[in-house]
Amino acid sequence: MITIAVISQKGGAGKTTLAINLAVAATRDGSVGCALIDLDPQASAATWGDSRSEPLPEVVSAQANRLERHIEAARKGGMAAVIIDTAPHSESAALAAARAADLILIPCRPAILDLHAIGTTIDLARLAGTPAAVVLNAVPPRGSLADEAAEAVAGYQVPLVPVRITQRAAFVHCLTVGKAIQEFEPRGRGAVEIGGLYRWICETIAA
Ligand SMILES: Nc1ncnc2c1ncn2[C@@H]1O[C@H](COP(=O)(O)OP(=O)(O)OP(=O)(O)O)[C@@H](O)[C@H]1O
Ligand SMILES: [Mg+2]
Repeated sequence: MITIAVISQKGGAGKTTLAINLAVAATRDGSVGCALIDLDPQASAATWGDSRSEPLPEVVSAQANRLERHIEAARKGGMAAVIIDTAPHSESAALAAARAADLILIPCRPAILDLHAIGTTIDLARLAGTPAAVVLNAVPPRGSLADEAAEAVAGYQVPLVPVRITQRAAFVHCLTVGKAIQEFEPRGRGAVEIGGLYRWICETIAA
């Protein structure tokens, strides 16, 4: 079983969006399941889970001090993956998630304030002793912002995921109807991006 924590101390970076989409990607990747653990008291991922009728991914709203228990339950339940969504500005819960994970995914918008904020999350990953990677999210389809952001990330000595997630209305619309992008537009470019991100994560953890 692989465990991925999606952490960024910056609000609105795309943690919940990526956690949900990765959880569905993991669920579609073979017959075994995925659990999505929502550590954010706002419970956005859990609310999305409530709006679905599919049994997988299994979505639970949890507190950080119960995290280990939920991960153990997922392991015993034969899940192939656990994805943990976290709240911004929550050092202790984020640290618990970071410690429990095989890989920390740090979503970052290609904007200067977001780039400045990744240092805090990278420090947290180092404190936990867990490998981390930055993924650029909500990248404009045109222009040089993402390339400039990639250069800025290179200064942090943490890998940058080679797949970029584009700013797409479909990422917003799919959540409104209780879906992930791979269910909403299976042949769309967003689905390809999420598939690529999930594969990169699996390969990185396996390496
Ligand atoms: N790739 C994308 N394309 C379009 N919209 C996006 C994308 N990623 C995120 N968004 C939108 O940006 C907003 C913030 O995203 P999201 O809730 O996933 O961030 P978050 O990091 O979980 O926020 P918080 O820190 O508040 O938990 C949401 O309205 C979401 O739909
Ligand atoms: Mg969120």
